[in-house]
Amino acid sequence: MAIRLGDTAPDFTATTTEGPVRFHEWLGDSWGVLFSHPKDFTPVCTTELGETARLKPEFDKRHVKVMGLSVDPADSHKKWAEDIKETQGHALNFPVVADAERKVSDLYDMIHPNANDTLTVRSVLIIDPKKRVRLMLTYPASTGRNFDEILRVIDSLQLTDKHSVATPVNWKPGNDVIIVPSVSDDDAKKKFPGGWKTLKPYLRVLPQPK
Ligand code: BEZ
Repeated sequence: MAIRLGDTAPDFTATTTEGPVRFHEWLGDSWGVLFSHPKDFTPVCTTELGETARLKPEFDKRHVKVMGLSVDPADSHKKWAEDIKETQGHALNFPVVADAERKVSDLYDMIHPNANDTLTVRSVLIIDPKKRVRLMLTYPASTGRNFDEILRVIDSLQLTDKHSVATPVNWKPGNDVIIVPSVSDDDAKKKFPGGWKTLKPYLRVLPQPK
């Protein structure tokens, strides 16, 4: 069955570049990013995994564990890791699932046969500490993902989980935010004593809460 936002991310056991993993246990109480790439030893994927390794301090800061995946075996991942380090300047510092039997790819619907019937597409899932799926992205093989956008969504989710706000178009950390419609003006006065600007009754803007 298709995975949807709010669903519990399916648990699995898998072989990874860092040994066997039980997904939920590995996540612990962290946030998680699970992302698939089409194939080892391909150019776009090489840049994506190098960039993910470079961004590890940013993921750590947000208490996010990252796991990659493709349908290649672990020895292939490990050999390719040498190329990633050499060409991207960052060694792999997160586990990559060796999903040669497509167990996880099938569980997460990461193979889209009308795009390619053997390789995983570029899927991204953001998973919260309750193991709920909070974002799903699917990119084509020919387009490398924007990992700054993935961090931006994590920032938005962590902020909006904490406060009764939503983040507007092209929001970046530090920009103004929006009071969610379910909060009445009376409740908003208690939650946001610094006030807000009402552009329309449903569009109430205020500085990002700390
Ligand atoms: C790549 O990562 O460069 C790639 C992978 C599969 C198809 C096209 C590009």
